Amino acid sequence: MYYRQMGKIPHKRHTTFRKPDGTLFREQVMGTKGFSGTQSILYHHYMPTEVARTELIGKYLPEYEDQESLKHRHLLTDRIEKKGDALKAREYLLGNDDLLIGTANISEPMKSFYRNGDGDEMIYIHYGSGKVETMFGTLTYGPGDYVIIPIGTIYRVIPDEHKTTKVLFVESFSQITTPRRYRNEYGQLLEHSPFCERDIRGPETLETYDQKGEFEVITKTRGYLHSHILNHHPLDVEGWDGYLYPWAFNIEDFEPITGRVHQPPPVHQTFEGHNFVVCSFVPRLYDYHPEAIPAPYYHSNVNSDELLYYVEGNFMSRKGIKEGSITLHPSGIPHGPHPGKTEASIGKKETLELAVMIDTFKPLKLVKQAKAIEDEKYMYTWVE
Ligand SMILES: [Fe+2]
Repeated sequence: MYYRQMGKIPHKRHTTFRKPDGTLFREQVMGTKGFSGTQSILYHHYMPTEVARTELIGKYLPEYEDQESLKHRHLLTDRIEKKGDALKAREYLLGNDDLLIGTANISEPMKSFYRNGDGDEMIYIHYGSGKVETMFGTLTYGPGDYVIIPIGTIYRVIPDEHKTTKVLFVESFSQITTPRRYRNEYGQLLEHSPFCERDIRGPETLETYDQKGEFEVITKTRGYLHSHILNHHPLDVEGWDGYLYPWAFNIEDFEPITGRVHQPPPVHQTFEGHNFVVCSFVPRLYDYHPEAIPAPYYHSNVNSDELLYYVEGNFMSRKGIKEGSITLHPSGIPHGPHPGKTEASIGKKETLELAVMIDTFKPLKLVKQAKAIEDEKYMYTWVE
């Protein structure tokens, strides 16, 4: 990320910054990795520590299925009927100690505010539009947006009225960043990166609520949800600056890297967190060697689990996959194109597929409830 500033801030940090009535704005340094990572400084109307009441809501970590025989999995997320606000609608599907993955049908605005105290969140918008109101300002979202919300950011999601927003979400236990190899020693995105700073959107407006009253902030951390009742509006920031803030990147701004022969998955990489990467498969021209096979070769990703969320288009190497499908190809066994798909890809000029891939370096476990939307025959769909 790079430096941004919104609203009013004093010329020098850690100096007096007064409201028109002469009282002080309350300065908050919000930083990652102690004081060594990216950080921002915010100026609040009220002390961010002013909490009237706290309550334990309960456990939120999902329960995983018992170990079954190792197989490829296919989940049909369009079968999930659960709806609600951006927090209650979350259906966890897979996870491990590094991240939790699921989908949500967001049908109503959040009445409370929320923050994740364990790590950054990634919300990929499959369809729908609306806005994410945060303490750093408001981001509007639409289809194809990846919205990245840093650890500790207080926010709420407001979908546009009468429309459901379907999202794929990642709750990480680390920071989610652009890949290190795309950046130079100063942090700037390099020419070979498939996107650049111009494609990254920060908050568009900073709304400041100088308002007293009871406001709930739900904090997710340490395996539990906690309720904190503030006696002021949590979005009371007059101004901020720094490198830490929520941002959005649209998958259509990902410029695909193509070649004469099949390019490996790392060319699709978009983000990374601790022990996982996120890749974007976007419409692109196929390989241009006259005898190229555009479909992927069979491969053993022996050190990572490969999860794909299918957004739209006809995914070139698969049959029986629908929009909203999730496939998991686990480490330890090979996977690759379905029967006939390798031959069918030869001579093709382009693909219109759109998909998000999450590769994890530790095995992903299936959440118990996810079995209800599983296509159990998927493992055997390679049998000719
Ligand atoms: Fe793969």
